[in-house]
Amino acid sequence: MGVGLIERYRERLPLAPGAPAVSLGEGSTPLLHAPRLSAALGVELWLKWEGANPTGSFKDRGMCVAVSQALAEGANAVICASTGNTAASASAYAARAGLKAIVLEPAGAVALGKLAQARAAGATVLEVRGSFDEALAAARELARRGTHVLVNSVNPFRIEGQKTAAFELVEELGGPPEVLALPYGGGGNTTAYFQGFSELGTVPRFLPCQAAERATTRASAIRISEPVHAREVAEAVAGSGGEVLTVTDAQIVAAWQALAHEEGVFCEPASAAPVAALHHAGLAPGTQVVCVLTGHGLKDAEAVDRTAPPPVTVDADPDAIAAAAQ
Ligand code: F0G
Repeated sequence: MGVGLIERYRERLPLAPGAPAVSLGEGSTPLLHAPRLSAALGVELWLKWEGANPTGSFKDRGMCVAVSQALAEGANAVICASTGNTAASASAYAARAGLKAIVLEPAGAVALGKLAQARAAGATVLEVRGSFDEALAAARELARRGTHVLVNSVNPFRIEGQKTAAFELVEELGGPPEVLALPYGGGGNTTAYFQGFSELGTVPRFLPCQAAERATTRASAIRISEPVHAREVAEAVAGSGGEVLTVTDAQIVAAWQALAHEEGVFCEPASAAPVAALHHAGLAPGTQVVCVLTGHGLKDAEAVDRTAPPPVTVDADPDAIAAAAQ
């Protein structure tokens, strides 16, 4: 109950024995069957609901391990560049560990809920005039100077923590799914799942799904022009008989609405990219697919404002309400 993933998988993580476990109760997320979307797509669709993590995204899996290691190494401060979720996670885990957090976010390009999470945790939030890719380059340089520990996914402890999602899938399904589909931004999560399945010696077919408009997509979490893990993603795809799929923003929005309307699962837009891609993935009928839903919809309420009808205002009058509810 409430056991974090370091406790659950410590022997499969490269933390020093006795290293502190900085935890907010991450991991052990639900694997939800999606009956209506399965019927619509002609596959057996499962959703790995990573929005159920403590800060609402899969980043918590990697962050608990990266921050635990930083603490064990005697760090004072962590730094990251982020489209929002890494920053929210780093801020929370740094607070939990008693470390300073400096987060760099592309100015004007981060969903408000994610910004609020970092600010609420007391992080130093710097809005960088530039793209995510430029902010990451600056963060890497500061880490090289030795003043801050970088907790982006180029930190191998992040990948180590995130690989545990593959362990959970194999435990729950009794083996890997036939197909694993997940959003592809920088490619750290694809790298992590591939490492996790490879350690178990049993790898599903990988379908990393990227936005067609990488530099401008409305799915701001994956607004990344230069994926730092492109080489590892290519290896995961080649090593599993998979392929990288590309989806438009219109396809992402349609899949995101279908997840909420048909299955009751409210994720953020980027998380819907793999569901969108299944429409043209050419899968055999009945294929067992897991889509990784990487982040919670509450982080990006602006996306709802752009798509759902506004609420109607009524008097507290039963007849007026009945009429409005027709
Ligand atoms: N989904 C969400 C909700 C994300 O926040 C991210 C990445 C991805 C998918 C893509 O994962 O980069 O491992 O391929 N977010 C990073 C951030 C960039 O700063 O929060 P990836």
